[in-house]
Amino acid sequence: MSDTPQNEPEVQEELLSSHNYDGIQEYDNPTPGWWNWLFIGSIVFTPIYVLWFHSPSTSRTLAAQYEDAKAANLKLQFGEIGDLEPTRENIIKFMDDDKWLAVGSATFATNCKSCHGADGEGISAPNMTDDYYINVKNIEDIAKVVKNGAKNGAMPAWGNRLHPNEVVLVSSYIASLRGENLPSARGAEGNIIPPWPDSVSDVESSSEEKADDTESEANAEQSTTDGGEAKEAAAE
Ligand code: HEC
Repeated sequence: MSDTPQNEPEVQEELLSSHNYDGIQEYDNPTPGWWNWLFIGSIVFTPIYVLWFHSPSTSRTLAAQYEDAKAANLKLQFGEIGDLEPTRENIIKFMDDDKWLAVGSATFATNCKSCHGADGEGISAPNMTDDYYINVKNIEDIAKVVKNGAKNGAMPAWGNRLHPNEVVLVSSYIASLRGENLPSARGAEGNIIPPWPDSVSDVESSSEEKADDTESEANAEQSTTDGGEAKEAAAE
């Protein structure tokens, strides 16, 4: 890259670097222009790359694309169970369904274990394996807390970060942890609450919310799976 004629001996002498190893010498050539441009180019490229792929408002990273693809896949899978409402019936129903409970468990592992512990034993957040609860009186309150959060955001609201079905399934999963009473768990917080209803039929007989006739009619019409039971409740 030098314009200096290199075949003249004195000029060559000047261009040689000072070291000499076993008679081997080398020219003190300047860094080639292409190398310098590559260097400058990479410096210019770096902030563009960082802004494009890592600015928090966009989802261009591989991880974000993965999350998007996962969500799309989840929606596809959820076609099987439809869109679940966070009702008592649904939460209880999926507590006994190992396949869907695994989705709840995965949701928990991804989003909740940092505070609630890998097994729900509680770290900075309450233990889920005992009979004590702070914000939960009925099983459906679990989904309410998950959706809306608690204690001014100390428990974050997940309503717009999780699919509605994930809210139900993670609630079923949390409900299923009750009674494990892990020895290493965080101490009791809140109050002891009555046991969860055993099954959906328990729910029907103990449900006071259905006392209102008009509401029960509406429920019976809405309900496609257990319309019969809902009508029974309406008759009470
Ligand atoms: C940043 C920490 C944090 C994360 C992450 C977190 N929680 Fe919580 N959670 C809390 C805290 C703190 C409380 C206690 C709130 C209170 O004292 O009222 C709580 C309470 C709860 C309760 C009510 C417990 C009770 O005794 O009333 C439920 C249910 C719950 N979390 C579920 C979840 C689920 C499901 C997830 C994941 C989707 C999750 N949490 C993620 C911090 C967290």
